[in-house]
Amino acid sequence: MKLIVASNNKDKIAEIKAILSEMGFEVISQSEAGCNFEVDETGTTFAENAYLKAAAVVNATGEAAIADDSGLMVDALNGAPGVNTARYTPAGHEATYKENYEYLLHNMEQFDDRKARFVTDICCLFPNGDMVCSEGECRGQITRAPVGDGGFGYDPVFMPDGYEQTMAQLGTEVKNRISHRANALKEFRKKLREYNGTDK
Ligand code: IMP
Repeated sequence: MKLIVASNNKDKIAEIKAILSEMGFEVISQSEAGCNFEVDETGTTFAENAYLKAAAVVNATGEAAIADDSGLMVDALNGAPGVNTARYTPAGHEATYKENYEYLLHNMEQFDDRKARFVTDICCLFPNGDMVCSEGECRGQITRAPVGDGGFGYDPVFMPDGYEQTMAQLGTEVKNRISHRANALKEFRKKLREYNGTDK
């Protein structure tokens, strides 16, 4: 089955392609499908933003699209940065990954409770309007300082539960097995099988 990934984030596209190809999907990015636009993430939830991104690509191409909206939710910050994870600093969209995680570390300086979770919502939208959606999470801790140069985004400051290294140290193979994105895509595959009428 062919799916267009509704994203312009090359890091996210690479992970989604790796995980979905392994599951047997044929995956192309929205730019490879000729969609050279950005979608305003005006939703108030990850699920709404995933839908907005998938809908824009389905409307432009007439083909099925899959979108991922993700973020980091920190317990001590009452769930922030949440849907604003990509634009957390006052600089908003202009901020780099490094500026965003440095701002997070600064905001967490006084907290000993470092518990956090990454969340991914997946929306797969078909041209007939049907949707298969899923959610996945990865629980862990925010470190005191960044470590590692793999992955992307907040990976250098996130240590998944059960591991002694940050997501940025664990490597692609481990990340794509345990991440919020991997968990959401496993759930998506299960729900797609149910949608297609086979539980295998
Ligand atoms: P969005 O899903 O495009 O709104 O992006 C959410 C933001 O969350 C990204 O810009 C990254 O900063 C962060 N993010 C999403 N997924 C990951 C991940 O797997 N590791 C680290 N940071 C991530």
